[in-house]
Amino acid sequence: MNPAMMEELAKEMENFQVTMGHIEGVPLPGPTCDEWDTIYNFQAREDDILIATYPKSGTTWMQEIVDLILQEGDVQKSMRAPCFIKVPFIEMIPPKSMPSGLELAKTMKSPRILKTHLPINLLPPSFWEKNAKVVYVARNAKDCMVSYYYFHKMNTFLLDPGTWDNFFSEFLSGDVPWGSWFDHVLGWWKAMDKHQILFIFYEDMIEDPMWEIRKVMKFLGKDLSDEALENVKYHSSFQAMKENPMTNNSTVPNSIMDDTISPFMRKGIVGDWKTHFSVTQNFIFDEEYKKKMEGSGLNFRTEL
Ligand code: A3P
Repeated sequence: MNPAMMEELAKEMENFQVTMGHIEGVPLPGPTCDEWDTIYNFQAREDDILIATYPKSGTTWMQEIVDLILQEGDVQKSMRAPCFIKVPFIEMIPPKSMPSGLELAKTMKSPRILKTHLPINLLPPSFWEKNAKVVYVARNAKDCMVSYYYFHKMNTFLLDPGTWDNFFSEFLSGDVPWGSWFDHVLGWWKAMDKHQILFIFYEDMIEDPMWEIRKVMKFLGKDLSDEALENVKYHSSFQAMKENPMTNNSTVPNSIMDDTISPFMRKGIVGDWKTHFSVTQNFIFDEEYKKKMEGSGLNFRTEL
C-alpha cells in the first residue's frame, strides 16, 4: 500500500465498527453479507485453484505452497506481493481504501490462486460450473479453536472473543464467523467424490511436508525437480514464512492486525490445545465431536 492509501485507511479505521450478519444461518462479517449477491455471483475460471479452509487451518501455508509450486520453487517470484494481494480472498470486503478480493481477482492473469473460508453450500456455483480445482485444508478443531481465539484478539475485523471459556462455548456452538467447524469440514469432505477436491490435513503437513507438497504438485498437474521441491519445502516452512514480510502479514497496518497482541504466524504446531483446554472442556468437546463426526470416515489427529 502506498502512503496515501495508508493515510486513507488510518482515517477509515478511526470510525471502524465490527458488524456481523448471517447468510443462510452462517455468521459472516457484516460487509460480506451486504455484498452477498455480488460475492455469490463470482465468476470462476476453468484454471482457477481455490484454497478452501475453515479459518486458522493453514490457509496461508497452503497458499504459499501452491504459489511456490506454480513458481517452480523460485522464492523471488513468490515474493512479488503480500499473500493477501496475490491470493484474493473472495468473500472479504475490506475498508474502501483497500482493494477487495473480488476486484483483485477480476484483473488477475490466469491461473489464479483464490482463497475462501465459505462452507461448501455457500460457495459461488461458478466454481463447480467451471470444474475448478480446490485444495481443502482441514485442521483438528481443538488447535483451530485456540488459533482462532488469538486471531480474534489481534484482528480488528473480528469481535473481541471475551474470555477463553466464552470463546470455547461460541466455537462449539458454531457462533463464530464462518460458522460451525463441524459443518464446514463435513460439507467439504462429503463433496470430494463429486468435484476436483484435494483434501489435506494440517497435521500431515506438519508431520511430512514433502509428502503433502508432492500430493499438491500432482493434483495441480505439475512435475517439479527435486531441487525445486526442496525450495518449495524450505520457503514454506514455518520459520521461513514467519520471517518473510510477504507471508507474515507485517505489511498489514497494526490498526487491522496487531502483532504485538498475538503474531499472525503464532506457533504453527499440533497440540497447543493441551495448554488451553480444561479437563471439563476436553470432555465436553470430545462428547460433541463423537455426536457430530461419528461415521463420517474423517480422522483428525490432535497430537503427533
Ligand atoms: P497457530 O495460531 O496455531 O500458530 P490460517 O492461515 O488459516 O489463518 O492459519 C493460521 C495458522 O497456521 C496459525 O496457527 C499459523 O501459525 C499456522 N501456520 C501458518 N504457516 C505455517 C507453516 N508454514 N507451518 C506450520 N503452521 C503454519
